[in-house]
This record gives sequence, C-alpha cells and structure tokens, in this order.
Amino acid sequence: MKRINVLYNEQPCYDIIINNSWHMLSDEISKFDVKKRKICIVTESNVGPIYAKEVRDIVSSLCSKCILFEFPAGEKSKNLDMIDEIYEVLIKEKFDRNDMLIALGGGVVGDMTGFAAATYLRGIRFIQIPTSLLAQVDSSIGGKTGVDFKGYKNMVGAFKQPSLVYINLNSLKTLPNREFISGIGEVIKYGFIRNRDFFLWLNDNIDKVKTLDEAALEYIVTTSCYAKKEVVENDFTEKGERATLNFGHTIGHAVEKLKDFSLLHGECVAIGMKAALEISVKKNMISCEEYNNGIDLIKQYDLPTDTNGIDAEQVVSATLNDKKMDSGVIKFILIDGIGKAVIDKTVTREDMLMAVKNIIV
Ligand SMILES: NC(=O)c1ccc[n+]([C@@H]2O[C@H](COP(=O)([O-])OP(=O)(O)OC[C@H]3O[C@@H](n4cnc5c(N)ncnc54)[C@H](O)[C@@H]3O)[C@@H](O)[C@H]2O)c1
Ligand SMILES: [Zn+2]
Repeated sequence: MKRINVLYNEQPCYDIIINNSWHMLSDEISKFDVKKRKICIVTESNVGPIYAKEVRDIVSSLCSKCILFEFPAGEKSKNLDMIDEIYEVLIKEKFDRNDMLIALGGGVVGDMTGFAAATYLRGIRFIQIPTSLLAQVDSSIGGKTGVDFKGYKNMVGAFKQPSLVYINLNSLKTLPNREFISGIGEVIKYGFIRNRDFFLWLNDNIDKVKTLDEAALEYIVTTSCYAKKEVVENDFTEKGERATLNFGHTIGHAVEKLKDFSLLHGECVAIGMKAALEISVKKNMISCEEYNNGIDLIKQYDLPTDTNGIDAEQVVSATLNDKKMDSGVIKFILIDGIGKAVIDKTVTREDMLMAVKNIIV
C-alpha cells in the first residue's frame, strides 16, 4: 500500500491511498468520524453493478445510513439536471453538513460528486474512489469539480478538495482496454513534462503495463499521482505551474471537439502531444532524436498520433478560442528536453498550423 499526502495552502489536506483491494477502505473512512453520519455513494450504470455492493457493504458498517445514487454512465450525464437529482435525494434523505458523499467511478462521477459536495449546503465532505486510469492519475486529485453546460465542457464548476482519494488498482482489470490506453496518454504526459526517468521506464516496460502487471500498475499510478500532487500543491488555483498539465491539451481539446467527442480524451491528448513536440523541435528545444523517441513511445502504447476528417485551419481557430487563452495570448506548453515543460507565449498561428498539418492525414 502507498500513501501520498497532498498539501493545500501548505497544510496537510488529504491522503491518496494506492492499494490492490478494498482492504484498507474501512480504516481510512473510519478516520472521518462518520459513525452517526449518513453517506451517499454516487456511481454510474457501468461501475455500480461491478463495485457498488462491495463498497456499500463496507461503508454501511461504518455509518448510520448508507444510500446509493446511480446515474446512466457517460459524459451525457455530466450536467446540472443530474446534479439536481443528487440534491433531491440528499434533501429527501435529510443530509446535513456533517454527512458525506463518495464518488465511485471514473472522472465523470468524480467531477459531478465533487460539484454536488461543493455546493450542497455550501459544502459537505466527499471521498474520491476513482476506478478509471484517467481518474486515478488525474481527475481525482487537485480539487477541480464541475459539469458541462449546454454543450460547453466543464463550464460550471468549483474548486473542492476531497477528504480522501482511495485507489484500488484492481478495479482497472474491468476497465475497457481503450479506456485504459486513453488514461496512459495522461501517464506518458507526466514523463514528458516533469520526469525523464519515468519516460525511460515507460519505454522499457511497455508489455508489463499493457498486460496490467500489478507492480507496473502500482508504479505508474504512484508516480503519476506524485507528479499531479506536486504540480497542484505549487499552484492550487491554476495561476502558474498547473498550466504545464495542459501539455498536449491545447490542440488536443480542439481535436476532441471537432471530432465530436468520437475520440477519447487521452487519444486526443496523444495527438496534441505530437503537435506540441513538432513545435518544440522547430524551436530547437528538443532534438530530432528526442522527438522521434517521444512519438515512438506514444505509438508503442497504441495511442494515435494523427487523425482525419477535420480541417487544419479549423483546429487552429478552435485552439485560439479555447478558455486557456490569457488576455488574447495563447499559453502553449512545450518541452525543453524530455522531462521539462515550459509555458511559451510566443507560439504563432503559423507555428500551430504547421504542427496541426502534421497531425491530419
Ligand atoms: N477534475 C479534473 O481535474 C479532471 C481532469 C481530467 C478529466 N476530467 C473529467 O473526467 C471525465 C473523464 O473521465 P473518465 O475518462 O474516467 O470518464 P468516465 O467516468 O466516463 O469513465 C470512462 C468509461 O469507463 C467506465 N469505467 C470506469 N471505471 C470502470 C471500471 N473500473 N470498470 C469498468 N468500467 C469502468 C465508465 O463507465 C465509462 O464508460 C471528463 O468528464 C473530464 O472532463 C476532470
Ligand atoms: Zn487531460
């Protein structure tokens, strides 16, 4: 078992537990004085049938009442109507400020449960139990919560730190392979932006990772959680360093949108990372050899580096319209050697167009 403490405002805030079972869940939740409290487990229609019973049995033995709220899986549920339904259940069950929510599922469940916890009665406690790789290495850490609004992704939200993040690596065994590989897109990103040794390790252990070897999974999840923890601790309101997490996302988000969300998030990040590597090599920040090694690693994990059916000019325009703009200047994340991200404000429309032309076949 691994335990990583995350600081907020330089004070200890919450632990991330990385384990191979539900074994420690009971002890970890008991620390929160829940004996006389109610707990609502929020989950969705894919994850609920596999894990909700086991988790609910554990939680029920610790608190006065444990209820389950399950919604249809997928991004289409991540909206204010579904938050409405969560509020209604909490009001009907008379949840007060001392009660608690648990998010059991991928990033969709985590973002929604976190947002409900941030806003119900001006804020109640919540625990993250992330079950997708993307949620384990990224979305469950850092306190960003929210929902989509009228087709705009993550348009309404709040910062709300969880009380605990409990990761059971075994839950990755039921995750569809394409979702797992999509999560690997974010894992590789940490190698590119802050850890060259991790990048090299990922290159040397491809088979172990792809076959879900337990030690390999523990290593990649722990290393990624550390990376995310360090970035958010240095910049918990997303003013500076946290922007480096957007490596591959600037163009990736535009591709995701123009492909009408038919590609998974990590797949678009992989395509966006190729574009960012193109610009990095053009600006002499990485050598051709580093560029080739980077592209090779992405491909070896079966992630895409290009796409079709979209227009390069449209991708650039969509990128320039993204909310990551800072008073008209795009903050582009490049790498200055493998393992070191930089925030660059000098990337031009032409630089972007050149890179985007190379990701469209
Ligand atoms: N808050 C943040 O900082 C942050 C960061 C990145 C992404 N996000 C958000 O996260 C969401 C994407 O997260 P995601 O990729 O986990 O999506 P998701 O929650 O939709 O999960 C992906 C798919 O895997 C299934 N699934 C999850 N765990 C499973 C398991 N153990 N076994 C079987 N099936 C399982 C889900 O039912 C779903 O079909 C997006 O809404 C995105 O905006 C938030
Ligand atoms: Zn991402």
